[in-house]
Amino acid sequence: MNNPIGIFDSGLGGLTVLKELMKIAPHEDVIYVADTIHMPYGNRSVQEIVGYMKQIVSFLERMNVKAILVACNTSSALALSYIKSIISLPIVGLIEPTAKRISQRRYIKKVGILATRATVSSLAYTLAIKRYNPNIQVIEKSAPLLVPFIENRVKREVLIKALTIYLEPLANADIDTLILGCSHYPLYLEEISSILLEKYKKRTDIVDPAVYAVEELLKELKEMGITERGTGEIRFFTTGDAYEFREKATVFINRPIKVKHINLREEGGIKLWHR
Ligand code: DGL
Repeated sequence: MNNPIGIFDSGLGGLTVLKELMKIAPHEDVIYVADTIHMPYGNRSVQEIVGYMKQIVSFLERMNVKAILVACNTSSALALSYIKSIISLPIVGLIEPTAKRISQRRYIKKVGILATRATVSSLAYTLAIKRYNPNIQVIEKSAPLLVPFIENRVKREVLIKALTIYLEPLANADIDTLILGCSHYPLYLEEISSILLEKYKKRTDIVDPAVYAVEELLKELKEMGITERGTGEIRFFTTGDAYEFREKATVFINRPIKVKHINLREEGGIKLWHR
């Protein structure tokens, strides 16, 4: 039996994590949940994020996933440790595997984190990195407009301008490494690296946490003997408008996809609406 891997995010951001998984383990089946009705997560409270994550995880459990990849930094920062304590499925977030790997690289001295307001306020990256290596300096910068800009497909010039403003304090601080602490940001990896290099004249290593999270998840699945060869089927669900999510996601995923709407607030469980 091929049980899928469950992946979720507030919207498009988790697609960067999904793509990494598809690259490394193309035969794994996946269920992707985009909680677009509650997007942006980055401006929400711990209570809200815990509540949403509980509903998504319970949906994924009902869909018989074998493991969950939290493709959202905000959820990894605010709710993962609690959710981990109440479920038995393997569950991997973006922050811990990244902090662990970054801290092993002795040449890294000063790390910049660009993330949502909620992730930055939680200091989850700073605390995790310092736990592994207290000598690394960590500077966090929140970028509250980026996720709404990306999801609402604002004009490129507007997005570049916002990125330039948000990156300035990190570039001025002479960071040697930048962690893209929100899964939406790697969608604009090229733009981010060219702003750092061309505008601010900085050679900075840019880290996408998806790489380490996917590695960690696959390592855990291997240890448990549950890496299976499925057909690489990916089923998409959204709490928002299925048509809209399909239109936007197709651009990034580069293949036609089908999306179903789900209502996670249904009393006592989940009701699927087929379009
Ligand atoms: N992509 C998510 C993250 O990594 C959530 C962004 C949001 O909805 O604000 O933090």
